[in-house]
Amino acid sequence: MNSADKRNSVKRDYDLIAEQYGDEFGKYIEDLDIYREFEKYLSDGASILDLGCGTGRTYAYFSKKGYKYTGVDFSEKMKEKAFALHGEFPYIVDDIMNIKEHFSDGSFDAVFAVYSLFHLPKEDFEQTIANIRDLLRDGGVVLLSYQLGEGEAFVDEPYLKDAGREILYMNYMSKLHVDGVLESNGFEKLYESEKHEEGDGVIGENGNDAVYVIVRKK
Ligand SMILES: C[S@@+](CC[C@H](N)C(=O)[O-])C[C@H]1O[C@@H](n2cnc3c(N)ncnc32)[C@H](O)[C@@H]1O
Repeated sequence: MNSADKRNSVKRDYDLIAEQYGDEFGKYIEDLDIYREFEKYLSDGASILDLGCGTGRTYAYFSKKGYKYTGVDFSEKMKEKAFALHGEFPYIVDDIMNIKEHFSDGSFDAVFAVYSLFHLPKEDFEQTIANIRDLLRDGGVVLLSYQLGEGEAFVDEPYLKDAGREILYMNYMSKLHVDGVLESNGFEKLYESEKHEEGDGVIGENGNDAVYVIVRKK
């Protein structure tokens, strides 16, 4: 399966689970401590680009605080659910791989990519980090999360019981790899934390440890 096939499979899966995902996570934020950490690096009214924005919980959080928010997600159904939950807001339906087609370089103060890069094919990660760098102004910041581990897998998606097991694409990365890609693309690390999730949720068996990193464009 090539990288486009993997991304298309993720898009199909989120189109199928948008209703349930939105009902469970569309308004509830479980990582408030990390959002707050990120905000320490945002100036008033900062422009934020959210990659893989899903059903809009991050929009609800940041727009209330006066930040200028734009979401990107390739699932039309996630967008429909986001609008049903929060009303319309700047939301571009496209693949994260195409972000440079929508904005000029240096357009954003900050990029947010939480719980989305673990679905981005391994081979697309470095290009995405380079694209994020281009879209940020100098000194701009990024909060990203990834799933700790090695390799890639198709995992069970509990919302898709009828579709069979092991269909949702997951990419696991080591700290060494992610840190190397960030550093070689001119980012300095400001913050890092790790969270362990109990149980066998959507994430699968390979890695239930998520890493959150805040970096700044040098
Ligand atoms: C687990 S959800 C997280 C949504 C949101 N960030 C949140 O925290 O609720 C992952 C989202 O990333 C989106 N996504 C995954 N890969 C993508 C890609 N290559 N381009 C655009 N969106 C993508 C999915 O459609 C889905 O909405």
